Amino acid sequence: MELTWIYSPIEKELKEVEVILEKSLRETKNESIQKINRSLLESPGKRIRPALVILAYKATLSPKPFALSQLIKISSSIELIHIASLIHDDVMDHARLRHNRPTVNYKWGNDVAIASGDYLYSLAFELISSCGNTNILECISSATKSMCEGQLIQICERDNLDLLKERYMLIVKKKTASLFAASCRVGAMLSNCQRNIQSALGQYGSNFGIAFQIVDDCLDLIGQKEDLGKSPGADFRMGELTLPVLNLISQSKDKDKIMACIRQQDNPEAFEEIRQRFINSQAYPKTKEVALSYIQNAKGYLNILEDSNFKQSLFSLANYIGKRL
Ligand code: IPE
Ligand code: IPE
Ligand code: MG
Ligand code: MG
Repeated sequence: MELTWIYSPIEKELKEVEVILEKSLRETKNESIQKINRSLLESPGKRIRPALVILAYKATLSPKPFALSQLIKISSSIELIHIASLIHDDVMDHARLRHNRPTVNYKWGNDVAIASGDYLYSLAFELISSCGNTNILECISSATKSMCEGQLIQICERDNLDLLKERYMLIVKKKTASLFAASCRVGAMLSNCQRNIQSALGQYGSNFGIAFQIVDDCLDLIGQKEDLGKSPGADFRMGELTLPVLNLISQSKDKDKIMACIRQQDNPEAFEEIRQRFINSQAYPKTKEVALSYIQNAKGYLNILEDSNFKQSLFSLANYIGKRL
């Protein structure tokens, strides 16, 4: 698998992240919580955020051996924040499937999912606090705030058929790119590299994150359940206008028909109509082009780094996102 190859220079550190995640998620003595946490450990995601923290740290080539245990804890905490955000996101999106498994909300109900997400956030911040690094705490807290703000804005904009692309971009930057940017930035901060390198890596993460969400939004429209591990069409059903749909609207000669479909959120045939129209229109290559331009920007920020296999992995990870489309 491509990710395994991209992650190969940091295989050891990622295994240590799994150990910390296991330790955190197995800490509770309560059997009900244990059951939920076990199900989370049994269906891991791609672990892109912890990989970014470690790659950013290593790619600066100014490693501080004493920071290694902090690096693993911080990488794990960011993954815990991400997992918590997905558990809550699945409640908000009424999603039933994640990682090809039933979601926490589908299996145990919304109450359990909300409380379980909160529990994971607290585990994450406990882990960050244990590192005693205020700058890192500040960076991750502010990214988490942005992420929550982005999710909230997106929900408030549901069913807004006049949503502008600028507003969509604001949502994406906040809800997704902020945590990617923070992942890269804290990795760089832990290595104690120069400020301009920290900023460049933060910019890499931000551009990477924007591309990542645009690709995810495209896949929600055109991807297959088996490949995604989640049910496509969630954005359509929740009345969320994403870039692929906004591009379809703006380039279409038959806007009334498209708007009529968008209003039929619960009609699978209306979703299929939008899906087909997108695939057969210029909106598809146009959306892809936008995602690829952010990937290009992200890679550009790596120029400041000296060559290494870690830099190469950051480069390949950006390309991997583009190739998902
Ligand atoms: C999903 O993120 C949420 C988005 C930002 C689109 P990932 O695709 O990184 O989630 P997992 O952890 O690999 O499932
Ligand atoms: C959620 O976005 C992003 C978060 C920051 C939680 P999506 O709703 O598109 O994520 P998926 O598609 O459910 O993974
Ligand atoms: Mg979702
Ligand atoms: Mg999505």
